Amino acid sequence: MMAGAGRRVLLVVCGGIAAYKALELARRLREHGIRVHPVLTAAGARFVTPMALQALCGERVSSDLFSLTEESEMGHIALSRSSDLIVVCPATADILARMAAGLADDLATTLLLATDTPVLAAPAMNVRMWEHPATQANIATLRARGVTFVGPENGLMACNESGPGRLAEPEAMIAAILRQLDGEKPLAGRSALVTAGPTHEPVDPVRYLANRSSGTQGYAIAAALAHAGAKVTLVSGPTTLPDPAGVTTIRVETAREMLDACQQALPCDIAICAAAVADWHVAPNSQKIKKAAGSPPPVLHLVPNPDILAGLSQPSPLRPRLVIGFAAETEHVLSHATAKRLRKGCDWIVANDVSPATGIMGGTENEISLIDATGCEHWPRLDKSQVAHKLVARIATCLRAPQTDPDPQEADERLP
Ligand code: C5P
Repeated sequence: MMAGAGRRVLLVVCGGIAAYKALELARRLREHGIRVHPVLTAAGARFVTPMALQALCGERVSSDLFSLTEESEMGHIALSRSSDLIVVCPATADILARMAAGLADDLATTLLLATDTPVLAAPAMNVRMWEHPATQANIATLRARGVTFVGPENGLMACNESGPGRLAEPEAMIAAILRQLDGEKPLAGRSALVTAGPTHEPVDPVRYLANRSSGTQGYAIAAALAHAGAKVTLVSGPTTLPDPAGVTTIRVETAREMLDACQQALPCDIAICAAAVADWHVAPNSQKIKKAAGSPPPVLHLVPNPDILAGLSQPSPLRPRLVIGFAAETEHVLSHATAKRLRKGCDWIVANDVSPATGIMGGTENEISLIDATGCEHWPRLDKSQVAHKLVARIATCLRAPQTDPDPQEADERLP
């Protein structure tokens, strides 16, 4: 079977003279057995016709954000998620700026904003436009968000100027696309432990203490880590979610069982504690506590649970290289989360506001701030799967960097 065969690429064709080369790219992708769904911007349609693109892709061209027919067939959200890779070719200075700004004023930008599918951009523009600080800043922003680039190449351009700005050759684009579709696993060879979901702390054989965590964010992170090539162990409290594909999932009930399962998963390179672990358990009654008429209600004596995150963060030969905690807060989110990072000794904290009004706990979206030793970065509200992929891209970048010794001052600041 050919590399890439059976995979699906969404090809976004924008308005530049190099747009005609997207036709050749589409033809070559189909030769590889890759399905190509074309999206043509209004400016792109000034350079190539929908008819030509449709003929070469063998699929109907999508171009109108507000087309009722297209919405009824496949909405822009579904369109963006139904592919394995989005290729922007040619990526003009304009589309790169609009992507970096998060605009969504046509079909192409809307689906690029709505997607959690990897994006590969093949820039092509005049050399001065390419070298302009605005374009370079946009490229840096997009790279930091996980967009990958192929080209541009050096050479003579249609405008008769020479320098960087030429669209990458078809072979280079095909190679980059195949690498993305089949090969690139930035966390290949790495192992990861993820905790997710709530814990249930039994009170008696029929009752337990629990919380509202659904496990969605932790499961999405486990899936994204596996997608990036990591060997993942997910230690999950009770949830209704299916085991993520390609992940070893261990189901537990209590915090103490979760700790045991985590210890079994060591050593590993990355630990992400997304579980909402109960802070306390009660010494459970072996029989159901009975209501006795006239007698006072039972008193539950709470006993602290082990802190799994703090334990994993302790300096030790088994300490994962990167330990990431979560701070679900309802007030003073950043200050509480920053203090928590130091208290627990983890490397990063993912902070979020779980006040009921945010709809985050148990919902499908998340709005987080990523806190590390250097400061805090706020991310926009995203689908939990997008948060997971973005976090995994960040982890991959971090693990590629040479390892530095922990900051001694930070270690001193850790509370007991
Ligand atoms: O202490 P708090 O629950 O606010 O801290 C949240 C972070 O600590 C989360 O990453 C959670 O998974 C982790 N945690 C843990 N074990 C506990 C309590 C919290 O791993 N017993």
